[in-house]
Amino acid sequence: MLRTLNTFAVDLMSIPCVEDLFWYVAQNVVGKLGFVDCVIYQANDAQSDLTQVAAWGEKNPYGRNIINPLVIPFGRGITGQVAQSRKPIIVDDLLNGVDYIADTEPARSEICVPLICAGRIAGVIDSEHPDFAAFGEPELEILSTVAAMTSAKLELLAETERSQRRYEDLVIAHTQLTRETKNRKALEAKLFEARKQDAIGRLAGRFAHEFNNLLTVIAGNIELLELDAPDVGAQDSLQDARSASERGAQLIRDMLAFAQRTRLVPETLDLNGAVSGFCQDSERLLSRQVEQNLARDLWPISVDPAALENMLLALTLNGIEAMPEDGTLTITTQNIFHTLAKGQHFPADLTPGRYVRLSVTDHGNGIAAEHLTQIFDPFFTTKTVGEGTGLGLSMVMGVMRQSGGTVTVHSEVSQGSTFDLYFPAVTDAAQW
Ligand SMILES: Nc1ncnc2c1ncn2[C@@H]1O[C@H](COP(=O)(O)OP(=O)(O)OP(=O)(O)O)[C@@H](O)[C@H]1O
Ligand SMILES: [Mg+2]
Repeated sequence: MLRTLNTFAVDLMSIPCVEDLFWYVAQNVVGKLGFVDCVIYQANDAQSDLTQVAAWGEKNPYGRNIINPLVIPFGRGITGQVAQSRKPIIVDDLLNGVDYIADTEPARSEICVPLICAGRIAGVIDSEHPDFAAFGEPELEILSTVAAMTSAKLELLAETERSQRRYEDLVIAHTQLTRETKNRKALEAKLFEARKQDAIGRLAGRFAHEFNNLLTVIAGNIELLELDAPDVGAQDSLQDARSASERGAQLIRDMLAFAQRTRLVPETLDLNGAVSGFCQDSERLLSRQVEQNLARDLWPISVDPAALENMLLALTLNGIEAMPEDGTLTITTQNIFHTLAKGQHFPADLTPGRYVRLSVTDHGNGIAAEHLTQIFDPFFTTKTVGEGTGLGLSMVMGVMRQSGGTVTVHSEVSQGSTFDLYFPAVTDAAQW
């Protein structure tokens, strides 16, 4: 018997859940410990009822299945009394007792022991026998040992479940923390970018302002000297000096535009008209086909026409430079209603509202990921020294921000790039 109980204890270790545990115990109390039948009841959380959860033996022919499980209130019948008193009961003759709850086939004697787990009644183990006084001290000892082992296993399973829940809570907390850290890092990067642009903008603006004053003096003196240039050689030299100072003045204008210090004179206009006009003029200039994909009923925008033309020129030139051999440039316009609805992907620095988007798309070499954060910085260029100023995109960014909009870029290496300009729409009809 001791050996059987030992095997019993070892087998319990590998049982994974409460349901399996009850069925294993019921089955083996009958199969290995020689009882005629075994029924296990589980107590509810409120400690008021017992419900039949496993049953084995001649009276329970359904295998691992209970049809209409019996529910017995604490205090009622022998099982209910055991649950309430937490003490085992042996009844020698059920036919004389008032507490016997008759089953399909009446029994003569009964034994019932409690399952106590962490100070609470977890249930009871019950067994009946057709003979008078079938249970004595030895059966009580065996069934009490089985009950103690079952209770210990129940506690272990409850602890395993608690640990599993704690682990799952920890995983959720960890995922949340990772997400928050990621969001914070993204915010910090954005803040850093904004501060960088602000610092460069102030520096460039100050520098351009001072330099502009010097250029004005240089250009004025060149003009004076040209009036009494002694010969053609001197005139040529002065002409070169004048071209250089004009180029310098253009650089200064772009720097001031980036620093958002350009004096813009906005006009309410139809962007489609401006794009068509630009394309007509520039096809000759750019010697490349520009396709137009213009939305109907485009909202009017307010922008400085000269600045708009400069931006279109800077963006189309960049597109052509990205497709040195051949390739079509496309200019697209579209109304955009930016709300805070989920799933919208608009630039983070754009406040909700109506915008008109102008997109310049090329199918050129694209922009490497490590350059994407730099292309709007003044003087960032991938051209060789002397070929590019790196002020085109900074000027575009400056003008767009000064106009209440912004510019973004989507690019894939070897696929091409799209620059999106968001202009706030003029919604006041009186201005149109
Ligand atoms: N459409 C584009 N496709 C690929 N790279 C681009 C595109 N537009 C801009 N770039 C990258 O961004 C850099 C900066 O552009 P930006 O227009 O400011 O200056 P730049 O073109 O180099 O000089 P500049 O405009 O004075 O000729 C470019 O050197 C290039 O590397
Ligand atoms: Mg450029």
